[in-house]
Amino acid sequence: MSPEAKTSLLAYSEELFAPESDVLRWLREEIVARGFPPIHVSPLEGRILSVLARLCGVRRLLELGTLGGYSALWLVALLPREARLVTIEAEPRHAALAREAFERAGESDRIELVEGTARAVIEAMLRQEGGRRGSFDLIFVDADKENYPYYMEAACRLLRPGGLLLGDNAYWGGKVVDARAADAATEAIRLFNRRLADDPRFEAVVLPVRDGLAVARFTGP
Ligand SMILES: C[S@@+](CC[C@H](N)C(=O)[O-])C[C@H]1O[C@@H](n2cnc3c(N)ncnc32)[C@H](O)[C@@H]1O
Repeated sequence: MSPEAKTSLLAYSEELFAPESDVLRWLREEIVARGFPPIHVSPLEGRILSVLARLCGVRRLLELGTLGGYSALWLVALLPREARLVTIEAEPRHAALAREAFERAGESDRIELVEGTARAVIEAMLRQEGGRRGSFDLIFVDADKENYPYYMEAACRLLRPGGLLLGDNAYWGGKVVDARAADAATEAIRLFNRRLADDPRFEAVVLPVRDGLAVARFTGP
């Protein structure tokens, strides 16, 4: 298939299946207007997050890396009102925009934004009574890449058996297959992908959408 045909098919799929709400469109534009990096999921990837969350009947979700809340809004879009998402963001300016977006979308009551570094927040969660074992049905990893292997191990404690682990940027712009790339982020994503593929605690695949979306079912500890 030609690159032009691929581009047309992506536009066709997004137009059919991933129309954005006014708030989502505003948010994408606001991310650019505020000079933040436009490194959020695409509309089609967002819709995939919505459908996966709905398919798996999730109610308790954790997201690492909020940016402006674009993926967070897709994650909860098809879920019943009682679903709750906790999303962690280290950059206060990103968190401020996300709060505004959640307000505008009428989702502030079911999305809790925690400011801090994801690893520190998770470590605090794990120190709480009972280690929060199995307290989430879905975890979406989209924060600092160097900690992806740590996030995967933490997910084994935080997810219930049968829960879903999702990881964005599994292709890391193609660097995972570039033999010359040996930086810490690339090595960490390679390790994350390798472990997801080999670890019997996960049944996993990478969807070749945008920058690669790792999708894994946690079978149990
Ligand atoms: C790829 S963006 C998240 C995009 C968002 N999930 C979306 O698709 O709309 C990554 C975000 O993670 C944040 N971040 C980076 N390192 C972090 C860390 N250690 N803990 C929490 N957030 C972090 C960045 O500030 C940035 O907003």
